[in-house]
Amino acid sequence: MDVALASQTTPRLINLTADDRFVPTEVLRRSYIHYPESQNPSAPPFVTLEGEGLELGIVHSDVPEIARGVSSLLTRSLEDAKDQHGGHLPARIVERVQLDIISPHGVAHLWGTEGHRFVLSRAVDRTTSEMVATMLVARRKGTIFFFTGRYNNVRHSTIEETVDFDQPAGTNPEQKWFAQFAFPKPIDFKPLAFHHIANFVVAKEHRGKRLSRVFLDALLAKYARDRMVACGNPIEHSQFLLCGRGFWQIGDPPWLVRMERLGFELRWGAESFFIEHDWARLPAIHDEQGHAISNLDYNRTFRLPERYQGTAPDRPSPFHLTQRVPEVIRLSQDPRAKLQYFQAMFHFT
Ligand SMILES: CC(C)(COP(=O)(O)OP(=O)(O)OC[C@H]1O[C@@H](n2cnc3c(N)ncnc32)[C@H](O)[C@@H]1OP(=O)(O)O)[C@@H](O)C(=O)NCCC(=O)NCCS
Repeated sequence: MDVALASQTTPRLINLTADDRFVPTEVLRRSYIHYPESQNPSAPPFVTLEGEGLELGIVHSDVPEIARGVSSLLTRSLEDAKDQHGGHLPARIVERVQLDIISPHGVAHLWGTEGHRFVLSRAVDRTTSEMVATMLVARRKGTIFFFTGRYNNVRHSTIEETVDFDQPAGTNPEQKWFAQFAFPKPIDFKPLAFHHIANFVVAKEHRGKRLSRVFLDALLAKYARDRMVACGNPIEHSQFLLCGRGFWQIGDPPWLVRMERLGFELRWGAESFFIEHDWARLPAIHDEQGHAISNLDYNRTFRLPERYQGTAPDRPSPFHLTQRVPEVIRLSQDPRAKLQYFQAMFHFT
């Protein structure tokens, strides 16, 4: 498709159009990816969830109607993260993501090219489907969808060569971009063999009905190879299988509680922090009542450092960064450091 046509059909705009999640069923069915080397090549390129009235499949994310629908699900969900709506992010940060990452154009052409875009849908009538949830799962186990706002689709195995850790933040060569963050060491940044996931969202109209559990259960039972082998499940579709050990998430702090409820496990010691400088001030933070709070108060909201004091992981695991826990405790007590992300994992078996 030429560039001009693509920008009309999958525009770079903030898509708050709720009805975009309704698509012609025929378009949805056409957008499912058929994997010619599937072990069940004559099966349909999607699965139906018996008893739930739902359908699940991996779509081509550059089909315009699909890109717009997914963009609408993600954009409307992220709108609630704005601090003016009681969320944890300044409006300008939310709007940058809504425009650059999850606009129809972003969904079709940014991370979508490196990920399996799963769409869970239900039939509204004989010709219309409603997209009710979505998740993006990295195709390759080594892909990291984002690494600060300056890098997308980084390969973990070559991160040290691809990422310029010495680059300036702006025009002053003394002020370094990466001085604004505290991350785990690049080699430890991602647990090996886990698929990065992003954009895991249930439509606002369908929250609180256990759909996210149905969605995750279906992903595991019908797409996660190791789980399917362990349970003796047949391959019911002609799409890709996920061959990694599990899912890996870089999550905003408020998401941890809900991801833990869904069976995700905190990756110990893998938190990242913003580091404030005179030349790089962080936006003011407000609590849910709108009062200004410090970085330390913010960190404490997410039980840092308490969650790491006098405790050990429930399950010992080579994927935790226990040796970095003292550093996380130190950072969470540094007035210049503000928790940016936690990491979480979900094991397929
Ligand atoms: C998180 C999300 C996917 C959950 O979907 P859902 O279908 O509404 O959730 P369910 O009804 O299946 O609930 C699943 C569990 O999560 C818990 N949960 C859901 N939303 C929660 C929230 N905002 N805070 C705390 N727990 C929450 C539920 O209590 C439930 O746990 P329980 O069964 O032990 O009580 C959905 O709320 C959403 O899209 N949120 C916005 C985007 C987001 O935060 N995505 C996650 C990170 S990518």
